[in-house]
Amino acid sequence: MSSQHTVIVGGSSGIGLATARHLLASGARVTITGRDETRLAEARRQLGAEAQAVSMDAAAADALPAQFAQIGKFDHLVLALGSGKGVGPFATVSLADVKLGFEEKVYAHFATAQAALPFLNPTGSITFVSAVSAQAAVPGTAGIGAANAAVAALVPILARELKPLRVNGVSPGVIDTPWWDAFPEEQKQTMFEDFAARTPVGRVGRPEDVAQAIAFLISDDFMTAQMLICDGGLRLSV
Ligand SMILES: NC(=O)c1ccc[n+]([C@@H]2O[C@H](COP(=O)([O-])OP(=O)(O)OC[C@H]3O[C@@H](n4cnc5c(N)ncnc54)[C@H](OP(=O)(O)O)[C@@H]3O)[C@@H](O)[C@H]2O)c1
Repeated sequence: MSSQHTVIVGGSSGIGLATARHLLASGARVTITGRDETRLAEARRQLGAEAQAVSMDAAAADALPAQFAQIGKFDHLVLALGSGKGVGPFATVSLADVKLGFEEKVYAHFATAQAALPFLNPTGSITFVSAVSAQAAVPGTAGIGAANAAVAALVPILARELKPLRVNGVSPGVIDTPWWDAFPEEQKQTMFEDFAARTPVGRVGRPEDVAQAIAFLISDDFMTAQMLICDGGLRLSV
């Protein structure tokens, strides 16, 4: 594992950045990607000189093969990019938002995994980051939940189709990352307190919690076709 190279798409923030930090600490090689070059450069600065960074928009499929060629051969792919679109009551949620949510998450994960294949070690792995909205049946999450369920559906299919490449996913609960910065700070804190009170472990997640789950799926070469829920038990009580 220590000599292996992992590419983290969406590695400049939150869960992807924590995964990069975790893997680098175990001695692995890591390349992070993201769209915003300033954010990417800052993440690379935080990670240190061993990390590589390549600018990439996972939803711009035509450019992906050249960007992966720039990275070269690697062992593991982590897809940690996502979308917050598609939230709201089913009767009124904006269809344009739901469509955008699928483009930003399902299409982007699909296109990036496909473009990465020629560069991936056939005995390496892909780890998708879905979300517990795919499992928790929370009213008001039909759009985002359907997109995350679509990502989760890829896992067992690809685990069979791409074998011996291992294909897994993680399904995070509420994790304190910049993903939540779309909400005003006060509202975010109120929501986190509410989620923490309803979560069996008594707190919201940290990006490092999910990073550990991803590192486990990458490093255990008997793990494939698995969707690991990392939510502190939240899905049982929302
Ligand atoms: N935080 C939570 O509570 C939570 C819960 C369940 C699931 N998740 C899922 O976990 C994943 C990571 O979320 P996070 O909380 O870590 O969010 P985050 O802190 O906002 O990080 C998202 C990362 O993805 C990158 N990104 C977004 N769109 C991209 C694109 N089209 N191409 C390349 N990079 C892209 C972002 O950089 P740029 O914007 O610069 O591109 C950033 O590096 C997402 O799939 C999210 O749905 C999060």
